[in-house]
Order: sequence, then structure tokens, then C-alpha cells
Amino acid sequence: MAEFELSDIITVGVVGLGSMGSGIAYHSLTQGFPVIANEADDKALASGKGRVEKLLDKLGQVKAQDYPGDRIAELKSSVQYTTDFAAFAPQTDEFDTAALVIEAVYENLAVKTDIFRKLDQLTHPDTILASNTSSLPITELAKVTGRPDKVIGMHFFNPVYRMKLVEIVMGEQTSQETLEKVRDVCTRLDKETVVVKRDLPGFLVNRMLGVYMNEAMRALVEGKASPHEIDEMLGPKSFGFPMGPFTLGDYVGLDVAGIVARILGDSYGERMEPHPFLAEFLQLGQFGEKTVVNGEGVGLYIHTKSRTADNRLPLNPELVAILDRYRANSTLPTAPTSEGPDASVERFIYPVVNEAFWCLQDEMASPGDIDKSMKIGIAFRLLSDRKGPLEYANGEGIRKIYDTLSAWEQQFGPRYGPCDLLKEYATSGKTVQV
Ligand code: 3HC
Repeated sequence: MAEFELSDIITVGVVGLGSMGSGIAYHSLTQGFPVIANEADDKALASGKGRVEKLLDKLGQVKAQDYPGDRIAELKSSVQYTTDFAAFAPQTDEFDTAALVIEAVYENLAVKTDIFRKLDQLTHPDTILASNTSSLPITELAKVTGRPDKVIGMHFFNPVYRMKLVEIVMGEQTSQETLEKVRDVCTRLDKETVVVKRDLPGFLVNRMLGVYMNEAMRALVEGKASPHEIDEMLGPKSFGFPMGPFTLGDYVGLDVAGIVARILGDSYGERMEPHPFLAEFLQLGQFGEKTVVNGEGVGLYIHTKSRTADNRLPLNPELVAILDRYRANSTLPTAPTSEGPDASVERFIYPVVNEAFWCLQDEMASPGDIDKSMKIGIAFRLLSDRKGPLEYANGEGIRKIYDTLSAWEQQFGPRYGPCDLLKEYATSGKTVQV
């Protein structure tokens, strides 16, 4: 074991260089942290390195004055790319040893626990082991290590260079000291944080985002509106997201969205059970902007320069074919509950408000952090009045939201059922102190 103490986080380790891992590595570099970057094999490492360097080259273009060519070259040379976990072992000098390693591989608990086991064996005993998981339990990852107090969630958002939020997720045994160190490093990464006090699936943002995406998907399959109409109803010129739900799905990757949806459905049951249409569409392997076919990204939309007659992105014809089949054949599975209300801002946003109250009821975080997570993590109403879901509920009327959800619960089923805390606020006439 090296003789020095790891007093400060100077070098950041990143395991997995997909879109999130490469984004985290890139952002860490720009904020002054040298990076040790790991991938499973040479091919994945080369692709990951390509992603990091593409981001650096873009930085050199968009901020040419601050980042001239020699500065970009210097940042490129501040990464040690490796397929060998031994690179995370203590080196002879503190400055070469990562005091924080962030795992950002795909959402598979077995793969992640294997990585945490190896990191635990190889890294300095004071190294903090963080996961960028969006929905898997930090406590399970901590269990395979001999340092559960130093295992924590650091959930970044896509694109990492732009979205300011990191959800810091406390496992059952994560120590206050680890929380403080990670909060400090987030400040040095120029990120804002919320603390997720309970390690429940989906944490804050993906829980609220999950019900919203699910409701959008269900309204689409029910034929209540087209993807364009739903995206426009919720987008920058209307409700106020920078992107509507289907554009966002194609942007973050439908494969990622599908895995999160499955985890949420398994964890929370009926109110988050994804429509079976999603699993069928995912079998096509067309995950959005990152699935490039003949130079064009293919997901729910075809990401091409050409536009339809009404000046919109063309829909993927395979999507249209599956939707036609679902809509024509009522014997196809539409469980657990069949239909919902007409497409409207209320249909997509009231369930988000309900989930925000569920998060509060589950004591996941403070009201301020619940709202902040949505405002900064997915830019909830960023382009309109900048309110989070709880502040929005105060303005909209908690009683009105409760009554609407209760009526939908009667008419369409338990998916819309308001939680006890929402009922309590509605019946007492209180507003939430955010
Ligand atoms: N480094 C630094 N800055 C860069 C850059 C780089 N490599 N590349 C581009 N930029 C800058 C641009 O110069 C521009 O800066 P400016 O606004 O000061 O001029 C800015 O970044 C954005 O430029 P773009 O042209 O790329 O982007 P748009 O203005 O079209 O916005 C968007 C794109 C940021 C993606 C916006 O549409 C958005 O905010 N969408 C919502 C994204 C979102 O909700 N993300 C969260 C998803 S959920 C998630 O991640 C959780 C997971 O678990 C699933």
C-alpha cells in the first residue's frame, strides 16, 4: 500500500466511456482534473477516447478564445486511457492516484457489482467509489465492497457539459464525510447538487421523468395525439421543456430510457409500468440520434435535414407501422390499464406532481431539492416560469390537481391515484413551502 494519505481529490477515475462516462471524463478535464479513463476492451476504449476527443474538439471550436489548440492538446494529454483496472491502484505519488472513481457503465447490476468488487480490491482504501447509475441501488453496490461508507451515487445528466445537476445519492451506509467530499468535488466541477436521502429506484429525477415519459408513450399508443403534437404541447413554445418527451427520448437514447422504464415498472408497479409497445419498439435496435443509419440518426424520429410538408422531423416508418398494429388490434396487450385521458398538459404533468409528492412522502429529499432536481436536471419549465413541480402545484392549485387525478383514477384506473400526502395537502388547503 502506498504510504501517503489521500487528502484531496485531484485525479478523477472514470469506468465506462459511453455517452455519460465520456461526458463526465470530458467535463472533469475542463474543470482541471486529470482523468484515468477505463473501458472493457481496446475497441470500446478507442470509441470512448473518440467521444472524449470529439467533445474537446467541439470545445476548441465553440470557445476558441479560451481554448486555443495548444490548450485542447494539453487537455487531451491529461487523460490516461486504459483497459487495466490496475491503473486505479495506488501509485507512488498521490497525484497519480484517483481519490474518486466514477463508474458509468450500462445499467446492469451484475456488471456494476463486479466492477465495484474489483475497484474495492485495487484502489487506495480512502478512494471514494461513486456510481452514475440512474436507477440501481447504491446500497447493493456498497455491499460488495469493504468500504460501504465510501460508496455513493453521483448521477449526472445528459449532456454533462450543459446540465448543471448532480443527484448525490446516499446508500444506507454512506458516511457524512463522503457526502461532504463529493459535494465539494461537485462544486469544483461547477455542478449544483441535490441530496437524495433514500436510495429508492429512480432517485428523484428519473422517478418524476419516468411517469411523464410513460404517460406520453401511452397517449401515443392510444392514438390521442401524434409524437409531434405531444412534443409541441410540452416543448419550449408551450409548457416549457427545451425538448418534448419523444425528442428527449431520441436524444438520451431509447435503450437507456427503456432500461430505466423497466426498473421503475418493476419497482413501483402499476403507476410506472411501461406500455409493452416500448419493449417491442426497442427490439428494432433504433435508439435515437446515436443509432446512425446512412448518416441519419434513427429513433422515434428520423434525424435528417429534410422536413415533412408541415416542416417537422419525419417519423420513423417502423414506429408508424407498430402503432398502426397496436391501434388496429385490440387483442394486443395494453395492460395494466387500457386507456387514459385525452392528451393535454394536465395528463402529462399532473402525474409528475403526484410523483413529486410521493418523493416527499417517501422522505427522499427536501421540497427545495425535489423542485431543484427537476428544474436543473431536466430543465422543467426552464423556458417558461422556471418553477419546479411543487411550486407549479402551488400555483395550479393542489386541490384541482388532486380532484382531477381522483376523477381519472375512478374512470381510468389506479395508475392515476393521488398519494396520501397529496390528499393531505389538498384537503387541508396548505401549500408546499419550497
Ligand atoms: N463543450 C462545452 N460547451 C459546448 C460543447 C462542448 N463540447 N458543445 C456545445 N457547447 C455549448 C454551445 O456552445 C452552446 O452554448 P451557448 O448556449 O452558450 O451558445 C450550448 O453548449 C448548447 O449548444 P447546442 O447547440 O449543442 O444545444 P442547444 O442550444 O440546441 O440545446 C440541449 C441542446 C442542451 C440538449 C437542450 O435541448 C436541452 O437542454 N435539452 C434537454 C436535455 C435534458 O433534459 N437532459 C436530461 C435528460 S435525463 C438524463 O440525462 C438522466 C438519465 O439518467 C437518463
